[in-house]
Order: sequence, then C-alpha cells, then structure tokens
Amino acid sequence: MNLAGYPLAALADKVGTPFYLYDAQILRERLSKVAALTEGPALKARYAMKANSSWRVLDAVRGAGLWIDAVSGNEVLRARRAGFAMGSDPPVVMLTVDVFRDNALTTVLEHSILANVGSPGMIDELRGSGYRGGIAFRVNPGFGHGHVQSCDTGGPSSKHGLWLDDLARIRAVASDAKLPIVALHAHIGTGPQIREFDENMRKLVSLFVELVPSFPDLQAVNLGGGIPHPYRPGAPEYDLSWYRPILVEAAERLAKAARRPIRVEIEPGRYPVAAMGLLVARVKDIKETAANAKGPGHRFVMVDAGFVDLIRPAMYGAYHQISIVGAGANRPPEPLVVAGPLCESGDVFTRDDHELLVPRQLGRPDVGDLLVLHDAGAYGAAMSSNYVSIGRVPQIWWDDGRASLIARRETLEDIQRTDCDEPL
Ligand code: LLP
Repeated sequence: MNLAGYPLAALADKVGTPFYLYDAQILRERLSKVAALTEGPALKARYAMKANSSWRVLDAVRGAGLWIDAVSGNEVLRARRAGFAMGSDPPVVMLTVDVFRDNALTTVLEHSILANVGSPGMIDELRGSGYRGGIAFRVNPGFGHGHVQSCDTGGPSSKHGLWLDDLARIRAVASDAKLPIVALHAHIGTGPQIREFDENMRKLVSLFVELVPSFPDLQAVNLGGGIPHPYRPGAPEYDLSWYRPILVEAAERLAKAARRPIRVEIEPGRYPVAAMGLLVARVKDIKETAANAKGPGHRFVMVDAGFVDLIRPAMYGAYHQISIVGAGANRPPEPLVVAGPLCESGDVFTRDDHELLVPRQLGRPDVGDLLVLHDAGAYGAAMSSNYVSIGRVPQIWWDDGRASLIARRETLEDIQRTDCDEPL
C-alpha cells in the first residue's frame, strides 16, 4: 500500500495508536479477482472468514458473491448477521471444525449448516444430536504444509481431518449414521515455494478424482485455501491465472469420474484481505544494548503495538514489511529491531521462525514517528487478544477518500464484561 494515500497522522490523532486501517478498494479488487477465478456454475469460492471477520469485510465478501467457510459457531452467526443465507441448499456457509465446542453443534442444528468434520467421533456426535442431513468430510491427504513449519496442514503430523487410509471406515460410519457425505474437503496450505501451491492443488485434484466414485452422494469437493500472498517486498505475486485452469480441469475430471456435475470449491482467507490492511503504531522510544559474551548489541525501536495486536511474527516468525512515517522515512537504512510494549521478550516484530531478533534495515525514526506494519489485513485483528488487559485496537475503514471507524478501541469495561460471581 502506498502510504502517501492515507492521512495516517491525522487518523492517529483522532483514534490514537495503534490502529488498523483497511483499504476497501484493495479488498474489492482482490475479491473480484477471486470471483473471476471461480466464475462458472461448477466453481465456487468460500471466504475463510477466520482471516478477518470484520462486518465491513463480510459485507464486501457477500457483495462479491462469495460463500463462507466458518470455523466456529459464532463465526456462522456473524456470517448470518452479515446477511449470508443459512441452510444447506445451497450450503452458503460451511462450518469446518476439528472438534465441536460451545455452540458449534447447536448452530449446525438450528440453522441447518453443512458441517465439515474430520473424525469418526464427530459423525457420532452429529448422529447423537439428532442431526439429519448431509455432511462434509475433511481428509488429511498426507502431503502439503503451510507457509511456515508451524502451520502443518497435511501429513502425519497434522491434526486436521482424517488420514486417507481410514476413509473407507468413515464411509461405513457415515452410512450407518444415515448421514450422506456430500462434500470432501482438504486444506493443505500454501507451501514455502510459490508454485508448490499449484503442484499441491493438482495432486489434491487427482486424489479427489480417484475418491469420487466411492462417494455416491458427493456434490462438491473443496480444495481449501492457501493462495499465497507476497509479504516480502519484491516477492513474486501468485498469479491467479495459474490456478484457474487447475480448477476448470478439476471440475471436468471430477464430473467425468462421478458421471454428474461436482462443484469445485476453494476457500481462501489470506488472499482477499492480507494486502488491504495496515497496523499503524507509534515510535515511543529508541534504546541500545551493547555487545557482550552473549552476543552482539542491538538498537531497539520501541513501538506501542505488540503481539497482542499482530501475533504473526511472534507466533510463526512471519515477515511483515515495515515503513516509517515521519523524520525516519528519509534517513539511510541501518539495522533496527522493532519491539512492542509487552512484558515478553518475544514481543518483537523483526524476527523469523529461528531467531528471536532479526534486525531490519530501516531509517532510524524519531520518537513520535509512526511505524507501519504492512499486509496486516489477514490474521491481524482477527488473532489479536486482550492479554495483559490491554484491549484490542480500533479498525478504520478507508473507502474512496473517507475514513470510518468500524471497530472502536476495546475498553476496560469491555474486557471486564464477563467478570461475575455466580454460585454453581
Ligand atoms: N480453510 C481452512 C479449513 C483453513 O484452516 C484455513 C486456514 C483456510 C481455509 C484459509 O487459509 P489461507 O487462504 O488464509 O491461507 N493464522 C495463520 C494461518 C493459519 C490458517 C489456518 N487455516 C497466519 O497468520 O498465517
């Protein structure tokens, strides 16, 4: 995002820092690319709303004609509030879960939501709850992985779905329970290399083509999300025109194997929303450590955002491009560590999945400058927490030159709203 296009300093004065800013235009562009990618009666995109479940984002997603992949009962209900149709004909909202908790199962029952389950016990639970209808089943195909080591979405160490060799047993359990399997699903993620995604998707399609004849009730297969996003400056952008032929061919091969049309679904989360979001923080201080026997010294830029606001660097060693807005923007780059306010040594934005500190080449800011973390629209606010009672930050919607507040800063009252003292 070109920062010159946004009045960041004025917005910071209005709502305080840190805050998220989402550019609606970028979101709409990305959504229309996904809609074009899945154009045609045999293809459908679901937005994996876990990436960003802001009501404005959901509104735009609905406007673009995408369906929803939800992963909790409350996500289903948020989609409902955003105007997405409930029910399973068609299954506009699908609920993908590894375990039913809280209101997940009751939401399935009350709103006839297609549940995408991944273990025999979950089928038993559905049966026991009185659910009658089709189910989706998540497969662990034994290959694929996320963008980093800690996101393992397919293979022996992934907890998701059911190991492929156990599928025959699942067919029996589901048919016993009179719950027809109407969709097969796998989400195997991005992979560290950009074209690895295509290879994995092709492999997955071939797998589903093999499986389809044994699932007589099947109406859809879902290839999951994972369209890569280029977080690093200069990183190659994934070209959706590489993906479209894979999807079109998948629909043809599946229809041939099944001898009826099979809908091919995808469920990107990151791709539609990553690029539209900035996390804007303020530089509060600059301090240095000196080299000693333990290691080299560092210059720390202390900012008011931390991993409570954007956890991806701390959790996965994920890279987010950083810009300075203010005096530091024009200074020659030097190695700086950007760290946050939390009483945790891991509260550092410049790191990777091996090293706690990976200094970044940045112009040294002045205290009071703004520091911006780019590509924070996906899994940013959505994964934020109120750890240390700090409160979640506001979210600003920027559309056609106008800003509006779409989530205000969380207050102490918000945080304490669930405190109670009730005898049990
Ligand atoms: N479908 C399912 C079943 C998923 O579990 C996920 C992501 C997606 C779709 C969307 O994947 P995407 O297109 O966003 O890559 N929080 C992490 C990523 C973990 C996502 C897990 N599942 C991050 O910040 O990168």
